[in-house]
Amino acid sequence: MADKLIIFDTTLRDGEQSPGASMTKDEKVRIARQLERLKVDVIEAGFAAASVGDFESIKAISLAVREPIICSLSRANDRDIARAAEALAGAERKRIHTFIATSPLHMEMKLRMSPDQVLEQAKQAVRYARTFTDDVEFSPEDASRSDIDFLCRVIEAVIKEGATTINFADTVGYGVPELYGNTLKTLRERIPNSDKVIWSVHCHNDLGMAVANSLAGVMIGGARQVECTINGLGERAGNTALEEIVMAVRTRKDYFNLDFGIDTTQIVATSKLVSQITGFTVQPNKAVVGANAFAHASGIHQDGILKARDTYEIMRAEDVGWSANKIVLGKLSGRNAFKQRLQELGIALESEAEVNAAFTRFKELADKKSEIFDEDIMSLVSAEEHSQ
Ligand code: KIV
Ligand code: ZN
Repeated sequence: MADKLIIFDTTLRDGEQSPGASMTKDEKVRIARQLERLKVDVIEAGFAAASVGDFESIKAISLAVREPIICSLSRANDRDIARAAEALAGAERKRIHTFIATSPLHMEMKLRMSPDQVLEQAKQAVRYARTFTDDVEFSPEDASRSDIDFLCRVIEAVIKEGATTINFADTVGYGVPELYGNTLKTLRERIPNSDKVIWSVHCHNDLGMAVANSLAGVMIGGARQVECTINGLGERAGNTALEEIVMAVRTRKDYFNLDFGIDTTQIVATSKLVSQITGFTVQPNKAVVGANAFAHASGIHQDGILKARDTYEIMRAEDVGWSANKIVLGKLSGRNAFKQRLQELGIALESEAEVNAAFTRFKELADKKSEIFDEDIMSLVSAEEHSQ
């Protein structure tokens, strides 16, 4: 039987850390409701101690959304953890996600703490979080730049304190796929009781490898939770894109052999909602949710698609919530695609000679205009009729 991949959405927390992407409480609740329709397993609703707004949003989402686990981030201190627990009090299922940096650079320059102090604080945080819920996630921040022996000590200790999910954070997008996956594998091999917890991946996209690193963490490292955001929203170059992870795992089930609970037909609606609320437009050539992700402009491709969709489509537009694949008519389009659009528009030309004449006029127009719309075709066909 295939293992289940847990989809942990952090659009409302790490996604919102993207400069300019801040959302109101009502907007966050709308997105959380849509994430529930999408059937994500975990919604990281915010960082309760960060602001009153975040606290109130987590509280509202905890009451409004009942299916997914609702999670709040907290630093590894009692105040943050208590605040997270308070915000999550009304949730049907709740998780506290606590983190502390473990890389030499962060410990020395940012925290100004010794490794032993960090270790003690991590243990205390998980122990305290467990007094509120039995679902506690621990993240060693900047894990991909941490010393592996120290990481092993910290993770072994927090597992003993009751952490149930361990998240291998590539905080600054420094990882490369094979190395990231293999480091995770080594951690799982070296740490006692590593099979008693869920291992998670959390990748940033600074080098454009967040999705690849996450998938390597799953396939090589054995992670069974992926942390991701809609449209890859997130600080700097963003986070792992949920839609890409989900469609990669689904389209290449032959390779990944994993199941998930996501309703893929909700992907486009969720992408559009997040884009509209944050004002972050989705680039047209963005995988899965870009306007051109299923558009075919070249004549050879259009001809192939009309004969058999698999020729140039590895997934179906309608499976992710687009109405259908999109044949864009333009100067590269062939006669077949043109004829097909005539049929779709209910235009029945009497003879092949008429089709040819209309096609010639279409090509002339396409040389002057980058995209030919249905209205253009209707007017050029009626011009054709008048000329006879
Ligand atoms: O990138 C990161 O390290 C984080 C943690 C808080 C998990 O977002
Ligand atoms: Zn992050």
